[in-house]
Amino acid sequence: MRIDVLTLFPQMFEIPMSTSMMWKARDRGLLDFHTHDIRDYTKDKHRKVDDTPYGGGGGMVLRVDVVVDAVENVLRMGQSPAPVILMSPQGRVFNHHVAVELATHERLILVCGHYEGFDERIRELVITDEISIGDYVLTGGELAAMVVIDAVMRHIPGLLGAEGGQDRDSHADGLLEGPHYTRPTVYRGLTVPDILQTGNHQAIAQWRREQSLRRTWQRRPDLLLKANLTEDEKYLLAQFAREDLKNP
Ligand code: ADE
Repeated sequence: MRIDVLTLFPQMFEIPMSTSMMWKARDRGLLDFHTHDIRDYTKDKHRKVDDTPYGGGGGMVLRVDVVVDAVENVLRMGQSPAPVILMSPQGRVFNHHVAVELATHERLILVCGHYEGFDERIRELVITDEISIGDYVLTGGELAAMVVIDAVMRHIPGLLGAEGGQDRDSHADGLLEGPHYTRPTVYRGLTVPDILQTGNHQAIAQWRREQSLRRTWQRRPDLLLKANLTEDEKYLLAQFAREDLKNP
């Protein structure tokens, strides 16, 4: 997959994109990553990327001519067509399903802004999608772009390997993951559940599913409304609800 990021602060991507899984993805040729400095597309001697808003009001607005020129140039650099995604608190909210969807593209272009906002004509002319990572406002789209890239890369075949576990991840099947344990077996009196030490794979899988349901019930009951549950699992949920009534 090729990912191009347009930003006023390309240096923000240097360490995150050269560390851990992101580095592995690039090193293995699974991710072809490029940043582009929007300021390089200015034509005046002051390299001005923004201006005051028409109609008054505070803050500065990113200029349409500079950003459109930057996006159109970057689009020409790759072979495949690509969605051009604006990182903004006004976009559709990012989640597991959006990450899986974006991972199906051969190429993505992410546009990060700073300042008050973008000239609206940027959206009309070159943007095809707009993504928010949550209902809060960041000082710029760069950290949001890194979150999106990281979550998308987990779904690129080959990065995590066959046992990578992305199918078991929290949210992959609409539920949160249950607890994990490793050695030591006992630590400060806290023990690893016996079932995990039995080697009975079927019983362990069932225990994990129950733990996953219990954790989702306790922490994110809203997710259960959309989860695909068997009749047995619904019965289990009813049991959790009864337990809660007994121990409010
Ligand atoms: N830029 C500023 N806030 C943002 C958010 N919540 N998500 C994506 N990009 C942003």
